[in-house]
Amino acid sequence: MSQNQLDKKSQAWSALFSEPMSDLVKRYTASVFFDKRLWQADIMGSLAHAEMLAAQGIISGQDRADIERGMAQITQEIASGAFEWKLDLEDVHLNIEARLTQLIGDAGKRLHTGRSRNDQVATDVRLWLRGEIDLIGELLVELQRALLDVAARHVDVILPGFTHLQVAQPVSFGHHMLAYVEMFSRDAERFTEVRRRTNRLPLGAAALAGTSYPLDRKRVARTLGMVDEAGIPCVCQNSLDAVSDRDFAIEFTAAASLCMVHISRLSEELVLWMSQNFGFIKIADRFTTGSSIMPQKKNPDVPELARGKTGRVVGHLMGLITLMKGQPLAYNKDNQEDKEPLFDTVDTLKDTLRIFAEMIGGQTNPATGAKEGGITVNAQAMEQAALKGYATATDLADYLVKKGLPFRDAHETVAHAVKAAVSHQVDLSELPLKVLQEFNPKIEKDVFDVLSLRGSLHARHVLGGTAPEQVRDQIALHTHRLA
Ligand code: ARG
Repeated sequence: MSQNQLDKKSQAWSALFSEPMSDLVKRYTASVFFDKRLWQADIMGSLAHAEMLAAQGIISGQDRADIERGMAQITQEIASGAFEWKLDLEDVHLNIEARLTQLIGDAGKRLHTGRSRNDQVATDVRLWLRGEIDLIGELLVELQRALLDVAARHVDVILPGFTHLQVAQPVSFGHHMLAYVEMFSRDAERFTEVRRRTNRLPLGAAALAGTSYPLDRKRVARTLGMVDEAGIPCVCQNSLDAVSDRDFAIEFTAAASLCMVHISRLSEELVLWMSQNFGFIKIADRFTTGSSIMPQKKNPDVPELARGKTGRVVGHLMGLITLMKGQPLAYNKDNQEDKEPLFDTVDTLKDTLRIFAEMIGGQTNPATGAKEGGITVNAQAMEQAALKGYATATDLADYLVKKGLPFRDAHETVAHAVKAAVSHQVDLSELPLKVLQEFNPKIEKDVFDVLSLRGSLHARHVLGGTAPEQVRDQIALHTHRLA
């Protein structure tokens, strides 16, 4: 049999068709050039299926052994780049099956017993995504560690905390970094939950209605590690749902979008902090680029791109969720369109997490084992900025409350004091005690403790507050969590 005839034969439906597909339609409907990256999952799923078919007596032990041998060779061919992917064979599944049959004959044709590409592809995407979620989990740990490391080194560095991008109250830079650790820890939780729902087996649903062969779906689930924490196999319970829904891909992309949104917010701050007007931080040169016209420039391209790529990932979420909305049960070819957005989401997120962990925390120097080249903090610039904008006004109000004033009255009193300070172009802490006492006679010398940035910081000693002791406690908790 010529190669051409073999390829034709492997198209299970070919006998029914009176004319071949045009090249344009072939190209339009084929997915092999993007879904080939599912090859390992596809082979893993096929081996589990074959093992179960043999255990159930549906194929012979010899067939199973041949399938394993053939798949071992295919694995080698694909891994080495020798495998010839063919557009004519439409997708990853048919390409691998055709090659298997070419290598081992009829046993290869028996592999598809009790299976359809519909349950096969749903299984492959789930298996692949499960592995990627695990890698993303590791990258999120790296990023959180990088942030924690920066936080731990800058607990006592003070910068202005903003609301409305107006100076509000002084905060510890460590505290500020920990806000992102919180966000990324929730992202990690979300991915863990998505993984649980992704890790369920569609195989055995066949085309849409199940199959007449006595399959043992739980056995396949166990072989593929699709089990819950208690080791109970997780099998999709409705064949129509199993082959058709891609909600796991959608919720993954939603979690990825949120994670990118967190990255994007951080990026926005890095860009602001790097600008000459702030001068709070520097990032290593390798994450910046120059300008082709302005020789003095060092642009924060990496954070800017991450902010931009967030739009792209959110776009994939919109694409996937819209892909699903009009589909009747069960499988429709629309679902082939799930792959490119999903793949690109994974690639973009992984690259971004990797680059941010390094940009923030630096690289490990192999000689010393120490991290080098992370962000550098200009503590003085941060503190100077916190001294502008009357960041301790709330502290003065709180001071008056402690002296017996109702908070609203204290608020009003301090507004007058700030007005006076503004007109004299001085900070509240620079107003003489006598002047302050004109606003309220209960003000005493100890007021200057609360009007200082450090006094303000230390006063916020509530759980989750910015007092250095609290920040250190939080760092310890997170470090323990990530250990
Ligand atoms: N390439 C297809 C996909 O990604 C595989 C399933 C095709 N099934 C079918 N009945 N045409 O969805």
